[in-house]
Amino acid sequence: MFVEQTQHLTGALSQAVQHLLAQVAAVAAQHQLPVWLVGGVVRDLLLGLPIDRDLDLAVEGDAIALAGQLLQLSGAHLVASHPPFGTATLQLPHPDDDGMLTLDLARTRVETYAHVGALPTVAPASMQADLARRDFSINAMACRLQAARTAAGDWALQPATLLDPFNGRADLQASVLQVLHKRSFADDPTRILRGVRLAARLGLRFANKSAVLLQQALQDGMLGAVSPERLRTELYLALSEPAPERVLEQADRLDLTPHLLAGVRWSDVLAARCLRVRTEPDLLVACLDRSEHTLALLYAGLITYDLPAQERRWLVQHYRLANDCASLFEDIIRVQGYREQLAQPGLANSTLDAILRPVNSVALGVVHYAESQSVGTTIAHYLGELRQLNPILDGHALQQLGVAPGPQLGALLRGLRAARLDGLVVSRTDEETWVSEQVHANNSTLPEQA
Ligand code: CTP
Repeated sequence: MFVEQTQHLTGALSQAVQHLLAQVAAVAAQHQLPVWLVGGVVRDLLLGLPIDRDLDLAVEGDAIALAGQLLQLSGAHLVASHPPFGTATLQLPHPDDDGMLTLDLARTRVETYAHVGALPTVAPASMQADLARRDFSINAMACRLQAARTAAGDWALQPATLLDPFNGRADLQASVLQVLHKRSFADDPTRILRGVRLAARLGLRFANKSAVLLQQALQDGMLGAVSPERLRTELYLALSEPAPERVLEQADRLDLTPHLLAGVRWSDVLAARCLRVRTEPDLLVACLDRSEHTLALLYAGLITYDLPAQERRWLVQHYRLANDCASLFEDIIRVQGYREQLAQPGLANSTLDAILRPVNSVALGVVHYAESQSVGTTIAHYLGELRQLNPILDGHALQQLGVAPGPQLGALLRGLRAARLDGLVVSRTDEETWVSEQVHANNSTLPEQA
């Protein structure tokens, strides 16, 4: 839904958030600091999208000082401040629920880039000039926050018009991504990835001129000037999108993927695997934690699933991926080595356990969503029913049966678990008998009463 009426854009926010922003505006006004809602939140308000827990505020003046003044709001605390950039982050209890609301305050500024891919040097500037340094017209809109006293003596947000010097609203309505000037991608080549993400999420396309500039930037090797760490951050954001495979599809269309993930290509098969994560969430719900991070890891595993092992290892090294991602890739490589065995019907549970026990659950989730029905079902069976299965007898109970602590006890526990997995023992008595037989078979001594 596209919002036609922009007189009171903030009216789409909940009453409680509006009230909070009215208080922010009132404090800012006391200090003669014009304050604006800016960037993605304005774009999303125009699209009628729900607003998340992160609001970007631009301040024409000292944003860090304003953040200090806003600490008077109930429950507010300062999370970070960066004097060189004139930015500060506050968190307050979300007025609508038990979570937190983050306010990112930034002094309005212009940015200059020493070289391609460098982080910007900033200088204070007007709101209008601040919008001109931004990535796309649809992100270069702002909405002034002003408050007035109500009859009841409380603060209420005043209707505010949209500041839209680059026709972002019209571009949004036409579903077009447009950079603001020729050097935009050279200033900050990560905007290429930001654009692809936005295009995938909001169903946008690059305007012709912007698409030409993007291709030029790629041909000029601009992405090579960005540190692998910054690119890793962008890739992680892409994996955190609701449908990361659509980001990949967009990236392929623009010939961007080879610059970032050599060997990866969008395909129907890859897209179907990713889609299953959302349409068949049972495994996720039952066996994985469903956090945003776990989802990002799942998609990372699925998108790189068909890459040769050495290319996955190259990605780990090049982007200095975190240990959990590196070990995810290794675990997937390990399970892929057993693919044929896993597809066989009638595999003993203990054999399955021997193969899959060392493998992290997220890696098993990846294999489940990526593989054929037979392998997928086997993995789900293992994760859902077998992995947590333990014998009734534990190490302590075995010692009471006369088994001395040491390697033999460990081996007995493992064997007992295998017997249980294969249904050879069911009850406590079965287990005790099994242990006793094993110990005697090994010529060990077991006290008479055991
Ligand atoms: N921005 C920019 N160039 C960048 C990064 C950010 O111009 N390389 C500007 C854009 O105006 C953007 C704003 O900073 O809207 C805030 O950036 P960010 O919070 O990263 O993104 P959002 O636009 O809020 O989008 P999202 O919904 O993805 O959070």
